[in-house]
Amino acid sequence: MIELILGQVLRFGADAMIEGPGAARVEARGAVALRAGRILDVGAAADLRARYPAAQMTDMGQKLLSAGFIDTHVHYPQTAIIASWGKRLIDWLNTYTFPEEMRFADPAHAAAVAKTYFDLALAHGTTSMCSYCTIHPASVEAFFLEAEARGMRALAGRTCMDRATAPAGLRDTAQAAYDESKALLQRWHGRGRLGYVLTPRFSPTSTPDQLLALGSLWAEHPECLMQTHLSEQVDEIAWVKSLYPQARDYLDTYETFGLLGANAVYGHAIHLEPREMARLVEVGAGLAHCPTSNTFIGSGLFDTAGMAAAGLRVGLATDTGGGSSFSMLRTMAAAYEVAQLRGVALHPAQLWYLATAGAARLLRLEDKVGNLAPGMEADLIALDLASTPAIAQRAARAETFWEALFPTIMMGDDRAIAGVWVGGKRQR
Ligand code: GUN
Ligand code: ZN
Repeated sequence: MIELILGQVLRFGADAMIEGPGAARVEARGAVALRAGRILDVGAAADLRARYPAAQMTDMGQKLLSAGFIDTHVHYPQTAIIASWGKRLIDWLNTYTFPEEMRFADPAHAAAVAKTYFDLALAHGTTSMCSYCTIHPASVEAFFLEAEARGMRALAGRTCMDRATAPAGLRDTAQAAYDESKALLQRWHGRGRLGYVLTPRFSPTSTPDQLLALGSLWAEHPECLMQTHLSEQVDEIAWVKSLYPQARDYLDTYETFGLLGANAVYGHAIHLEPREMARLVEVGAGLAHCPTSNTFIGSGLFDTAGMAAAGLRVGLATDTGGGSSFSMLRTMAAAYEVAQLRGVALHPAQLWYLATAGAARLLRLEDKVGNLAPGMEADLIALDLASTPAIAQRAARAETFWEALFPTIMMGDDRAIAGVWVGGKRQR
């Protein structure tokens, strides 16, 4: 059976960070044809209606059809502590994050939060994500079971910590990190649409032995991504230097133990030294930009345009619960504002790219999700570009497509999400 969804269509034919708005293709009266969970065809509505006369039709009118959003760095276990007041990174971890993550020793708690998290993600139009879990294998099970039940393409890994800097109860050992990560990888990587990601939390909470153990597991499974945090806050960088006195810089604490490579995704990467930048470019590593987190926790202003111009793959991320929103629209708005503070106006096409096709590229999923093109998996969303009176009155003045879209980027939230399809099945 073929299904045709009609609406305005936005997709990408190239890298919008490099090509700008010319990388995007907009069809004012377009259509997407779906068959067996995949995109069969994309184009002008009249053409597709003629080509597939027997297709079942869903007319979304003026709604904007796009690939679903992809959140490239999120901590689903921090769902319940989002918007916790008054701390910077290290105190925020100790005060809010670690006590909440301890609760994931209880599989029932993990399952309940996973359900809440996926409900929220889908309500905000996020159809794929790359999440940290906690140290507890049950937290990984809960995440993948929930994603699998919804048929989603989702990535995650067990967060490893074995240093005394992490509280007792949230610590493992180098060997346990290796063994349990490996068992979870073997159980979940490549099962349906799921993928396992090696996840040392960050160098301050791991011993060199643990980083080395995870580096050797990654060498056994180079097909997996490896995610961690890098140079998020100035105090954190000083802490890393005191814990690893031999290291040339923060990135070196990963590089030395085999945790630098083309399939690495580093979160934040705000305060990089020239050597770190050069090495990231050289190996083709990727960066997750977490703008609402970077402003909320007071971390700093990521150089989106500079990183992309240097050839690094960049994707947007909520970093929930350090980030202050589940919405990739709100995340795009924050990325725009942070770039403005650095003197750069990111184009709406670039912001959208960073939350869809660019995010997929960061996660090595660009042949599967993140764009509307024949053969891609049918994860898409329909957006109401007039979802509130404030947005509607501004969009009504728009003279171009981008002018009509930008108010939703800056002011939109889950009310703008008018439809969500996962693997071709409508979820909402
Ligand atoms: N660095 C290490 N762990 C975390 C975390 O959970 N959130 C953020 N924002 N930074 C981190
Ligand atoms: Zn994070």
